[in-house]
Amino acid sequence: MQAMQVRPLTPKFGAEILGVDLSQPISDELFGEIEKVFNDSGVVLFRGQNITEDQHIDFSHRFGPLEIHVRKDALMRHRPEIFVVSNVSENGKPIGSVDAGQFWHTDLSYKKVPSRGSLLLAREVPMRDGKVLGDTMFCSTIAAFEALPADLKQKLSGLSAVHHYEKGYNRDRPSGRRKPLTPEQLAALPDVIHPIVRKHPYTGKPCLFVNEGYVTEIVGLPKAESDSLLEQLFQHCLSEEFIYRHNWRVGDLLMWDNCSTQHCAVGDYDAGLRRRMDRTTLTGAAAA
Ligand code: SIN
Repeated sequence: MQAMQVRPLTPKFGAEILGVDLSQPISDELFGEIEKVFNDSGVVLFRGQNITEDQHIDFSHRFGPLEIHVRKDALMRHRPEIFVVSNVSENGKPIGSVDAGQFWHTDLSYKKVPSRGSLLLAREVPMRDGKVLGDTMFCSTIAAFEALPADLKQKLSGLSAVHHYEKGYNRDRPSGRRKPLTPEQLAALPDVIHPIVRKHPYTGKPCLFVNEGYVTEIVGLPKAESDSLLEQLFQHCLSEEFIYRHNWRVGDLLMWDNCSTQHCAVGDYDAGLRRRMDRTTLTGAAAA
């Protein structure tokens, strides 16, 4: 059996798991330990994973069912469980979503049942002058909630917010305007309402569940008050003390919890520098 070690990525959240090779069989006992670290830490890093697409999918499946994203153009052919995030084109056509996630968000928060987590595998990373670009930043929504003043915590606990997919999809992007969503895509993703303070489905800890990418308004508040409170919360989440910034290496498999964290991909690399990441996305539980 593989012997795993764990070391923290930041004082507040995130962990690196060492001593585990995901191309080898993972016993139920070892998987249980990994899952516990994932639920407790929010972000989990495995370095040096030389795994196939099927091994990536199979390991992800151990956590439960996988999402098939509504953006069919970014799905890997023959393996729709993998959403490709890449600026690489083949035969004149992008192989994935060119600049996905370059804003603070949690994956699929705009669904009635938001995603449990995502597993991103670095296949190619952009480099300039020996430095790897295209980091991904994470915020702990548990630490962010904990740090709020008591009266604001109390107020937020009774409130809900609207999550809207098109807000993130249609925003300004370095790659230019995206093709409009089809009527089928729009029908599959109506606006949804989730509590602003979400109880983590596995640990029960309160998480601040609003993200700049997809949240449009707080239910029941006048627009000006809703805009101003949301802006305050979005800014609060950016405090350095809640952030982990990941500098990628090829072979990193990084997984994150889509309730206890938000993330943002840093688009600081030129179009000519190849970046290719493969993502699987875990189905979650209804927000409570
Ligand atoms: C994502 O939001 O899933 C993409 C993150 C990244 O490419 O760094």
